[in-house]
Amino acid sequence: MNPSNYKILVTGGTGYIGSHTSVKLLQEGFSIVLIDNLSNSSINVLNRIKELTNINFDFIEGDIRDKRLLRRIFKEHKFDAVIHFAGLKAVKESEEKPLNYFENNISGSIVLLNEMDRANVNCLVFSSSATVYGEPSETKCSEDSQLCPKNIYGQTKLIIEEILTSLKKIQPKWKIVNLRYFNPIGAHPSGLIGEDPNGEPNNLMPYISQVAIGKRDKLFIFGDDYNTTDGSGKRDYIHIQDLADGHIATLKKLLQGSPLKININLGTGKSYSVFEVINAFEKASSKTIPFEIISRREGDVGEIYADITYANDNLDWSPKFDINDMCKDAWRWQSKNPNGYNE
Ligand code: NAD
Ligand code: UD1
Repeated sequence: MNPSNYKILVTGGTGYIGSHTSVKLLQEGFSIVLIDNLSNSSINVLNRIKELTNINFDFIEGDIRDKRLLRRIFKEHKFDAVIHFAGLKAVKESEEKPLNYFENNISGSIVLLNEMDRANVNCLVFSSSATVYGEPSETKCSEDSQLCPKNIYGQTKLIIEEILTSLKKIQPKWKIVNLRYFNPIGAHPSGLIGEDPNGEPNNLMPYISQVAIGKRDKLFIFGDDYNTTDGSGKRDYIHIQDLADGHIATLKKLLQGSPLKININLGTGKSYSVFEVINAFEKASSKTIPFEIISRREGDVGEIYADITYANDNLDWSPKFDINDMCKDAWRWQSKNPNGYNE
């Protein structure tokens, strides 16, 4: 296939995963248009993407819930596919403001789907999450494992997955994949783009990075009494560059008309404990990460990791980077950009 024949709309394109994927899309030769309301990202991302690729692309500052805007965009551009990253993702906030999450994530997706349909664009890669598995009975999750999200954020992902599954079943013209990401971490190896959370980070890697750079005194470890190798929580961390490659691989297969299962896990198939991540980060940064062990976080599971057999066998994709690479690249981004995109 020749990517230069295809134009892709990337919703949430200035966000963490969207920006890394956009760089890869441009480098592969795809034409792209990004839309983002900048509710959780910086306009400065755009210059970084341009610096990395030397390729021009369109950016539209706007909201995917804005039907008129989307109608105009789909009229102006003849898209072949959409990669849909736009959404809210903070678990705690989703429990405090459930309606915001239903509106933004679910209604936003429905507006987008309607406008895609009107414009005869029926190819979609959707950002789902391992959070749909909730508290699995087995630590290794395959796409067929039981689904039971434990919070509103996870519920929005499952509802959208269900809508997309029904749509594809009833109207086979739709080519859809829900990518269930495990724990994306790290940054582009240039240190030019990376994860830049607002306020106090909810997730482990950005928290450790902020401790290492001196913005926070210590890491709070949420429990050391799980039934795991060292008692701390174990997760399947995947390098953001591998995750971005997973999107390119999926998109190419969909555009070529290859039949794919609708739900696909993207992880590495390995899990690391909080202590193992701290060790790897200390090695990568030559910094000491002080920590304090506190009680478990509500909604956390002891261990979960992906069965990636399907992705390996069907996407021409496999993850290349290990936890040391992830920590090295996360640290390069953090140390080059102590204040994220706020120069
Ligand atoms: P992010 O917050 O960095 O990116 C999401 C982007 O969407 C942001 O730039 C935000 O401004 C934008 N956005 C939100 N609502 C919008 C709307 N209504 N209209 C237009 N733009 C809107 O998050 P991310 O980590 O890049 O995640 C991307 C997607 O992947 C999200 O859907 C998220 O739920 C999902 N996901 C993320 C993770 C993770 O650990 N980062 C894991 C699993 C799934
Ligand atoms: C969390 C969300 C999940 C979401 C994912 C990616 C919860 C309950 N789950 O998953 O829905 O899809 O982020 O956005 O919020 N940890 C600490 N101290 C910290 C932060 C984390 O010890 O300050 C531990 C956690 O207990 C866990 C591991 O580090 O064992 C990874 O945590 P995190 O990065 O938040 O990811 P998840 O818990 O997998």
